[in-house]
Amino acid sequence: MSTLATGSGKKAGRKGAASAAVTRPSRRRRAGSSRAAAAEPCPASMAYPKLAPLIEYLMGLNSRADLRTLDGLLRKLKITRKDLQSACVFGTRAYRRNVIAASEHFELLALTWRSGHCTPIHDHKGVSCAFRVVEGQGTEIRFVRTASGLVCPVKTTAMKPGYVCSADENDIHQIANMQAPGTDLITLHIYSPRIKKMNTYAFATSTGAEVDAGQTGVYAGPIDC
Ligand SMILES: [Fe+2]
Repeated sequence: MSTLATGSGKKAGRKGAASAAVTRPSRRRRAGSSRAAAAEPCPASMAYPKLAPLIEYLMGLNSRADLRTLDGLLRKLKITRKDLQSACVFGTRAYRRNVIAASEHFELLALTWRSGHCTPIHDHKGVSCAFRVVEGQGTEIRFVRTASGLVCPVKTTAMKPGYVCSADENDIHQIANMQAPGTDLITLHIYSPRIKKMNTYAFATSTGAEVDAGQTGVYAGPIDC
């Protein structure tokens, strides 16, 4: 796959074709050379065979991955919940991040969402971020900054299984499972490098208007308009 060979962080000469990573080394190579050991798939690849080419590509990164390359790799995947079963652990109060594989330069995660779970509104400064919807329908809400300091929603996307979402540096968004109770959402995410901190934003909320202090006898609590 050409996209595997053109990733910005690919280590030259190591695990050249991703497909080689899931192929057992030949008997001759296994007989003693250090290169044979290098050709063995990593534990995550063996645990998640359908993800093996992707994992071996990511393990070869030595810098931040190119976002379009990640997008292309995720589009080529054909995976179901069954392929990620051991990583599909759900949280109770919030969505859960289940790590499948990671290094200094990436993390690959299965995110699991019960109905009503959502991320904060956030951006992706310094990190290439792309994900694929594996099961259920996700909702992405995109925002733009306003002069007030609040952010304003500009677009909503219903993300069905197979949908791939890529977020650029300055994109601000929120992801949610807005399906009915009992309907799960599972997404497969790549961050490169590992995301350690993200900027979060506030959407406009209000508890109502102030009431003129001179209006004695008038309800003085929050009102609708
Ligand atoms: Fe995001």
